[in-house]
Amino acid sequence: MKGNQEIVKILNELLSDELTAIIQYVVQAELFANWGYKKLHNIFMERAKTEMHHAEKHIERILFLGGEVYGIKLKEMEIGKDPLSILKISLEAEKYAVNLYNRAIKVCQDLNDNGTKVILESILKDEESHLDLVESQLDQIEKIGIQNFLASQIND
Ligand SMILES: [Fe+2]
Ligand SMILES: [Fe+2]
Repeated sequence: MKGNQEIVKILNELLSDELTAIIQYVVQAELFANWGYKKLHNIFMERAKTEMHHAEKHIERILFLGGEVYGIKLKEMEIGKDPLSILKISLEAEKYAVNLYNRAIKVCQDLNDNGTKVILESILKDEESHLDLVESQLDQIEKIGIQNFLASQIND
């Protein structure tokens, strides 16, 4: 199907963002594993897999719209040096993603592309749940302290 090229461009941008997120989460997940926090490792690895599914959906949709996957540009990556800074970086990354998807959905609406809009809405729900989880982890840290929180992350 010949789709709107503006939508193809947006999907390519979203793809770059997802690919950056995958690498960032895998590196962070391995850091958690290295520090012995199995639970955080598993959460971050699962998250990387979800972001990979998002990337897959974008590629699939771009091709469906007769577009090309072009100019994949990885964004600047932020990893973090300790568990707390990683969680804070993840909070910002997911806030950014929620905002990005909301804006992209608005463009789909304006350009009358409901097919793409429905796909982006389902991805947005995943990003909202990522944001929700990292918010509650940071809330927990605030309540029980970082040491107690980390002690609860050693076993899955
Ligand atoms: Fe994503
Ligand atoms: Fe996410």
